[in-house]
Amino acid sequence: MSNWNLLIINGSAHLVDLDSEIIEISGFGRFPGEAVRGQKLGSAFDLLGEKCLIARYALSDVQSNLKRGPQIVLPKDIAWMIYKSGLATGGTVVEAGCGSAALTLALAQAVAPNGKVITFENNPRHFKIAEKNLEMSPWKDLVEIRSSELEDKTKEIEADAIVLDLPNPNEIIEWSKRSLRVGGFMLSYVPTVNQVENLLVSLEGWKEIEIVEIIQRDWQSKSNALRPKTNMLGHTGFIISARWNG
Ligand SMILES: C[S@@+](CC[C@H](N)C(=O)[O-])C[C@H]1O[C@@H](n2cnc3c(N)ncnc32)[C@H](O)[C@@H]1O
Repeated sequence: MSNWNLLIINGSAHLVDLDSEIIEISGFGRFPGEAVRGQKLGSAFDLLGEKCLIARYALSDVQSNLKRGPQIVLPKDIAWMIYKSGLATGGTVVEAGCGSAALTLALAQAVAPNGKVITFENNPRHFKIAEKNLEMSPWKDLVEIRSSELEDKTKEIEADAIVLDLPNPNEIIEWSKRSLRVGGFMLSYVPTVNQVENLLVSLEGWKEIEIVEIIQRDWQSKSNALRPKTNMLGHTGFIISARWNG
């Protein structure tokens, strides 16, 4: 069992599992989980001489605490993918590969509380990382993670959306046609134009094909020097979405 919450110590938030026997927070200290377990959400209490509060956490807290394996999809791209997927409460989505499960968690939140994410990960090391990261979320019961490759001969799964973050999405397109509900979207995230080209060739008969690259410009928040930050993230990936209308 796990019981993840935010522990706010003097205004700084830390994601902790209240069911842990011992909780350790760097720069603060170690203390038994039972010292905070019974505390009410939002009510201040004293811990090791500091003012603390327990609060609910957000997806962004989980994302910034993920154990890193392969490169994760960033929030700017996740937001567009969730929007284009058309997913909503109760939906079923198939994903591959799961990687570090950053995108998986957002998909699970989109279909919660009664939807389903079926995600494939064929690298055993990444599978373990993903499992660990999913443990941190309240949506882990909505996620079925399969330690196998998603390939054309995989048995079809009836899905409202299919989300692919793997090197050769073009190899999964025929499978996607057989698995997607009519009117459902396939989303693919690829870093290079070469992959976009390969994918487009395989999208014969698909509708509403869109290729998007999301550019995010961060600003520094100094009130006396309000301006964009000097360095910018140049490129993450292209998002290709397409609709299967049968
Ligand atoms: C870039 S990572 C995915 C990152 C993930 N979207 C995230 O946000 O954390 C790609 C993953 O796909 C896995 N993979 C590649 N081809 C696959 C396939 N056909 N079936 C299942 N997993 C696959 C790789 O092992 C790798 O872990």
